[in-house]
Amino acid sequence: MNLIFIGDIVGRPGRRAVKTVLPELVHTYKPDAIIANGENAAGGLGLTQDTAEELLNLGITVLTTGNHVWKKKEFYRFLEDNMRVLRPANYPPGAPGKGATVIQLANGTRLGVVNLIGRVFMSPLDCPFRVADSIVTELEEKCDLIVVDFHAEATSEKIAMGWFLDGRVACVVGTHTHVQTADERILPGGTGYISDLGMTGPIDSVLGVKTDIIIDRFLKGLPKQFQIAQGPTELCGVAVTVDESTGRAKAINRIKEAALL
Ligand SMILES: [Fe+2]
Ligand SMILES: [Fe+2]
Repeated sequence: MNLIFIGDIVGRPGRRAVKTVLPELVHTYKPDAIIANGENAAGGLGLTQDTAEELLNLGITVLTTGNHVWKKKEFYRFLEDNMRVLRPANYPPGAPGKGATVIQLANGTRLGVVNLIGRVFMSPLDCPFRVADSIVTELEEKCDLIVVDFHAEATSEKIAMGWFLDGRVACVVGTHTHVQTADERILPGGTGYISDLGMTGPIDSVLGVKTDIIIDRFLKGLPKQFQIAQGPTELCGVAVTVDESTGRAKAINRIKEAALL
């Protein structure tokens, strides 16, 4: 079976890129499930119910998120209620929403999706490795395959998570940096891995934001309101082929598709 993972979707340009590019990816890869990181999908920061539903209606099976998920307080209720939208699992107890879900796919396969966040150069949250271990132990009983979005800054932490879960999950994909890495591979235990899926959004930007705003920030050190860049967009991610009888990956291919306007 095939899975598609889509990297951080940034604002309206990112959502438009999904709408434009996803149909051709579906035609090419015939995915049984599509997992996308939506932490920047609403105006670049966070998600709203409307933007989440828009993405789910485009065919996305599960939306994962990251550090920006908390930007819109009215979204917390939706995070609590919707089984297809996750926030990182290793926020402390009491944080709204959930960090893992099990979805029964049309082909009968039970897919477990886990969302985690890193601690290196990020907020000091609960240990993603220990939380991953306990969630994967629980999901192994309930799922035919498990996939993990590890939303983290440092490649070392992400690579370590790949090795930590190797042989236990179908794949570990990294998100958050908005820059696609060229290190996709199948680890020896059969876990597909990439350090970062990359961004789905405006190409002529700094991680999705207008270039002059970010350059000005670096030059003067002054805070300035972010604005999403305009212009051409692309969708970044991976396609992973999984043997559903073993729950291990057989192939992983990078996707970096320009969206034709
Ligand atoms: Fe992001
Ligand atoms: Fe992030």
